[in-house]
Amino acid sequence: MAVEQQSVMQRMFARKTIAQVQRESANSELKRSLGKWNLLLLGVGCIIGAGIFVRTGSAAALHAGPAVMLSFVVAGIVCAFAGLCYAELSSTLPVSGSAYTYSYTTLGEFVAWIMGALLLLEYGLAASVVAVGWGGYVVSLLADFGLVIPPQFTGPTGQAVMRDGAPLIVDGVAVTAIFNLPAFFICMALSLLLVVGVSESAKVNNVIVAIKVSVLAAFILVGGYIVLSNLPELVATNWTPFIPENTGDGEFGFDGIMRAASIVFFAYIGFEAVSTAGQEAKDPKRDMPFGIIGSLVVCTVIYMLVAAIMTLLVPYETLNVPDPVAVVVDSFGAQWSWLAKTIKVGAIIGLTSVVLVLMYAQTRIFYTMARDGLLPKIFSRVHPRFHTPYINTLLVGTITAVAAGFFDINVLGDMTSVGTLAAFAIVCLSVIYLRRAAPELPRGFSVPLYPLTPILGILSCLYLIESLPKHVLMMFVYFLVGAIFIYFVYGMRNSNLQHDQLADDAPDMGEFPGPVVD
Ligand code: ALA
Repeated sequence: MAVEQQSVMQRMFARKTIAQVQRESANSELKRSLGKWNLLLLGVGCIIGAGIFVRTGSAAALHAGPAVMLSFVVAGIVCAFAGLCYAELSSTLPVSGSAYTYSYTTLGEFVAWIMGALLLLEYGLAASVVAVGWGGYVVSLLADFGLVIPPQFTGPTGQAVMRDGAPLIVDGVAVTAIFNLPAFFICMALSLLLVVGVSESAKVNNVIVAIKVSVLAAFILVGGYIVLSNLPELVATNWTPFIPENTGDGEFGFDGIMRAASIVFFAYIGFEAVSTAGQEAKDPKRDMPFGIIGSLVVCTVIYMLVAAIMTLLVPYETLNVPDPVAVVVDSFGAQWSWLAKTIKVGAIIGLTSVVLVLMYAQTRIFYTMARDGLLPKIFSRVHPRFHTPYINTLLVGTITAVAAGFFDINVLGDMTSVGTLAAFAIVCLSVIYLRRAAPELPRGFSVPLYPLTPILGILSCLYLIESLPKHVLMMFVYFLVGAIFIYFVYGMRNSNLQHDQLADDAPDMGEFPGPVVD
């Protein structure tokens, strides 16, 4: 059948067979070596980052007050639904890959393309958010050593420069920031590092995870000690009321808790990494839910404790800064100044690794899409010496650097949340689709309470999307319209899948019972 004769619908919903994806997957011989605790630690390592170190501050200051603790519970539950769905997909489709690959084998090429666009928000833009947080902690640490970066170079373009809590006025004109130099710098520097090639060293990663968790543990221990020594007083001054009265759309009260949930949701992104290890789990049926739910529970407990200490020790209104944890540690008192510096260094190291991993993931998604013909081949061109997709990596570095350097972290963070929530909803939908289209496929792990779990997953993601500000939703719609336009003018015409069909007409169904039902 010629491409021209296929209807647009047939082309949009063309699916890869499992056999095809397997052939393309280089790492098919993965060893089942990960136990349940490995999976749990893998999750915790990928999850903790700018969400707790940065975004919690504005979520509390602008939307939920001390009740941001409850927002963490809401966001954690939404992630649990999606996490269980990820686990079922990864244990059913015998391919290692991201949500993009899952979509290509279940809902078809058009949805896979949309998923690729959403993952650009989930990974690419998230890297920018974390980079801004990195910049906040670097500026704060340098200031401790008397090195002050001019504030015009530490914020998004046009943001008022503040001095002692008030806008800085020079010659009667409010001073505004030009761009965020540290955030821009770290994205470019890490993309160069990725070009040269950073081998995914498990040991280095374990050390960094240990540093991140130790920093938060030190904060909880010392902060908790100070809190417990003055509890009644602190509750009376900073936790009364615990849920500040609603003052407008998404500001405090119940609405504010939900709005803050869509912000701190960012703090959980990354737990899907556990599900992608599905084929390396010793006993996926038992270990996957333990790894996913366990890492979500551990992080929720850590996040709630950190949030409680933050909002007890300083008035929540003061937390709308790029380095809220540092602000709180500074309030511990002069005798703890060494701890403040240690925590800042730990946060900087931890955040560097998160930017690196997110950027790495983004380049590999572009790489896969280019190999599928959905993006220009230049994205899959590999450097002759470094063996890395260098042009792709430099482009990702530039995109993330520009976003981090010139845009406000709240807008970037909200766009990341909306993209990720939409991606999670599609993953939940894929589980329902696959159960109906290919019920006979062996499932290493099945979501409990089917179909309630994926349905609740979809509804809760949509609910959190709906709680985001209207201007963010509009930007998201424009982004999707742009992505769909590019699909029709480029992706659909160049997709390998379409050309394979032209070449040998009947797609190879392979020996595996694929989910493709025609
Ligand atoms: N969950 C990751 C973070 O908070 C993306 O930085």
